[in-house]
Amino acid sequence: MSSNKTFYITTPIYYVNDVPHVGSSSTTIAADVVARFKRLQGRKLLFATGTDENAIKVAEAAQERGQTAQQFVDSIVPTWIETWKRLNITYDDFVRTTESRHRKVTEAVFRKLTEQGDIYKDVYKGWYCVSDETFFRESEVVGGLCPNAECRKPVRWVEEENYFFRLSAYADRLLQHIEEHPDFLGPEFRKNEVVSFIKAGLRDSCITRAAYGWGIPVPDDPEKVIYVWFDALLNYLTVAGYLSDDEKLAEVWPPGVQLMGKDIFVRFHSTLWPAMLMALGLPLPEKLFGHGFWTTEGEKMSKSKGNVFSPVTVAEDLARISGAEFDVAVDAIRYFLMREVTFGLDGDFSMGGLAGRFNADLANDLGNLLNRTLPLLHRYRNGIVPKPDASDPEVKVLESLVTSTADEVADYMDRLQFSEALGAIWTLVGAANRFIEHQAPWKLAKDESCAARLDAVLYAALETVRATAILIQPFMPSVSEIIWGQLGIEEPAAKQTWTDAGTWGKLKPGTQTREPKPIFPRIDMRTITQPPQKEEQVEQISFDEFKKMELRVGTVKSADRVPGADKLLQLTVDLGTEERPVVAGIAQWYSPEDLVGRQIVVVTNLAPATIRGVESRGMLLAADVNGTAVLLQPDKEVPTGSGVR
Ligand code: MSP
Repeated sequence: MSSNKTFYITTPIYYVNDVPHVGSSSTTIAADVVARFKRLQGRKLLFATGTDENAIKVAEAAQERGQTAQQFVDSIVPTWIETWKRLNITYDDFVRTTESRHRKVTEAVFRKLTEQGDIYKDVYKGWYCVSDETFFRESEVVGGLCPNAECRKPVRWVEEENYFFRLSAYADRLLQHIEEHPDFLGPEFRKNEVVSFIKAGLRDSCITRAAYGWGIPVPDDPEKVIYVWFDALLNYLTVAGYLSDDEKLAEVWPPGVQLMGKDIFVRFHSTLWPAMLMALGLPLPEKLFGHGFWTTEGEKMSKSKGNVFSPVTVAEDLARISGAEFDVAVDAIRYFLMREVTFGLDGDFSMGGLAGRFNADLANDLGNLLNRTLPLLHRYRNGIVPKPDASDPEVKVLESLVTSTADEVADYMDRLQFSEALGAIWTLVGAANRFIEHQAPWKLAKDESCAARLDAVLYAALETVRATAILIQPFMPSVSEIIWGQLGIEEPAAKQTWTDAGTWGKLKPGTQTREPKPIFPRIDMRTITQPPQKEEQVEQISFDEFKKMELRVGTVKSADRVPGADKLLQLTVDLGTEERPVVAGIAQWYSPEDLVGRQIVVVTNLAPATIRGVESRGMLLAADVNGTAVLLQPDKEVPTGSGVR
């Protein structure tokens, strides 16, 4: 693919009868992160999202409210647009499937495929789930309920004459395409699901329904409407200018990435959609990616449980409890959703988890870096960027880390590994924090003969902040802009490129920085209400039994990932009298760099165990915040090895 081509990225189009929630927002945020990253790399972009409006459930919901379907969709679409605006989503096109540009494409495709024999008429008999807008085979439905584990609503028996798309004819070509294009489907484990699904046998797809007064009528057969999924998938072509703007189509097609949740990955996006494109003689997207699902506080999101969080309400709540600006709170949500789990896997969202990361990663790690650079510059150098001195070996280490981090992050971004990309940026933040700690500018400031060294240290720290501000831009655009503003750099943040992030020395000596203001006020975790815990029978123990347990404060000397185990870290913990290997399942929440030097609480007389081939002699203690581990550590530094009573 030539890099002059426009990079086209899409989200699914959302059912308009639903409200935007944390789950659906995660797809759109991920797409926005990619879009912003590609723009930083200088790519031209077409980023599209929109609403799926021709569904039966829309017509039914409208009826319940005594509205026409059109009135109903028109009243809801602004909520989606407003939500994306407040989450700083930079889409280029918002497509509604009730627009005439989309209807024209859908009708033309239907005609074309009918003329070439890919669409034919037959009788359809089978189950239909209105909630999922999906047909199921007789054998798939048990007890009259939708076989989709996420749905399980009653299905309807449908028996009528309909139009079919010759999906079965494309099975072999689909399998061949998947095999020849290893990057076409991701993540890898979902690719295998698609291959099994196709190999199990593809039936032709019923793509019309008896007209119900809503939807796109079948050309020349107004008794029928086009099945909402067939119409919805074509939105991606509508946006690309298919049949309306050949130049645009040539410029943007095929899409670089199409994102969607796992529920609509296998059957619709990885099977029906590419087969439709093959039938139309169009190239297939370069990548289709099926991400995981978000639960909230450990439970599936559902209106009846009242746990369908609106991202805007969550941001308002977070801003209120932290005192941060609304846009900073939005960025914290964007950060959380991209950081919490490897993109592709399921994750859990909770206010406790969000606040925990806000404190640990933003207020502590990034916040500390900011609080130790600009304020010191103001204190010691009137806020004016001093001269660099690259001869210091520690400065050199930081310099090469900035350059390699930009490359490493770009690599992760190309593979949609957002959590890992943020992990790499946070490694840089951690290294900069340790650099400052070690150089102790507050000590250098006391000694006149160290003036040049103080300049060099302040410059290096600020330069790392500048690079970090660009690296986090795709994820946290508002925070990035605030930092940029504080640095006082003349060139606007919007003009920066990814190359600028990886180039050391772009910060001009003599720049007058602005008065720094903290961006991430710490959250008092006591203000977060934990969801009611499941009642468990807790067995009581006697004091003598408790006394058998030996707890001591240890200091982490080293930390490394356990190869091949995503969740495990192997630590060496100094207990004053000896050093112990301890394996801990905290790699999802703490990077090895976060841990070195920290004091933790260890159960020291637990029988040794070998975990994934690594010896562990002790267990560290952590609070369980909705499944997220938060390490326990003493209120202030204590002698290593102190007992805990
Ligand atoms: N309208 C169809 C898509 C048509 S695309 C041609 C649809 N809409 S949806 O509103 O139900 O879902 C839109 C997206 O939100 C999907 O990618 C879906 O996977 C995602 N999510 C909905 N709930 C989710 C979670 N709880 N967690 C993560 N993503 C979730 O399907």
